[in-house]
Amino acid sequence: MNNLMNIAIDGPAGAGKSTVAKLVAERLSYLYIDTGAMYRALTYAALEKNVNLEDEDALDQLLEGIDIDLKHTKNGVLVYVNKADVTELIRTDDVNKHVSLVASHPSVRIEMVERQRTLAKGTDAVLDGRDIGTYVLPDAELKVFLTASVEERARRRHEEQVKKGLPSNLEELKKDIARRDELDSTREFAPLKKANDAVEIDSTSMSIEEVAASIINLAKERAS
Ligand code: DC
Repeated sequence: MNNLMNIAIDGPAGAGKSTVAKLVAERLSYLYIDTGAMYRALTYAALEKNVNLEDEDALDQLLEGIDIDLKHTKNGVLVYVNKADVTELIRTDDVNKHVSLVASHPSVRIEMVERQRTLAKGTDAVLDGRDIGTYVLPDAELKVFLTASVEERARRRHEEQVKKGLPSNLEELKKDIARRDELDSTREFAPLKKANDAVEIDSTSMSIEEVAASIINLAKERAS
């Protein structure tokens, strides 16, 4: 593939976006940009500093003072806030619970989107998020909207947690996923929404490999 390509993968929490995006990026040797990790990093920093998460100006100021780095290493993408490795710390329940609120503030989104566009500019990249195809990169060469049923998404998260030896409650996970879907889709500014020109893939009964393969095929078709 010769022309530069941006691939946008949007969809609700737990649909497998980041696993699939990572795999597609790796196979195509593209840069992987996890935009959710950026909102998580800010949420983590705000919780650490006891910033009121309803206070848009305070969050804005906090964001101004922090560098969020996504470092690509042999062991995957590591997330840094002002040079501190927060890769694990941004995946806690506390961050899960509060990140949608942080991500709902328009000025936070405007700044994040600018950073995301800068990262994706002039390079082949796969970005995953909620608003990549509709707002961050409306001209992305390929847009995918990845979904799966709430039950299946909760089941996958549950399995992941159990594998890591972490406590997990399937019913709680279902509720949390449904609550995040609701918050992410109903926020006023750049809500989670399928772009008109996105290809919808329902991954409920597909493996990660199958989803990745179909996205790679679509990318090859678009490139030719
Ligand atoms: O994909 P994730 O679960 O890591 O995303 C964390 C939160 O960030 C999610 O609740 C919605 C928000 N988000 C967003 O609003 N826009 C993005 N482009 C990516 C994530």
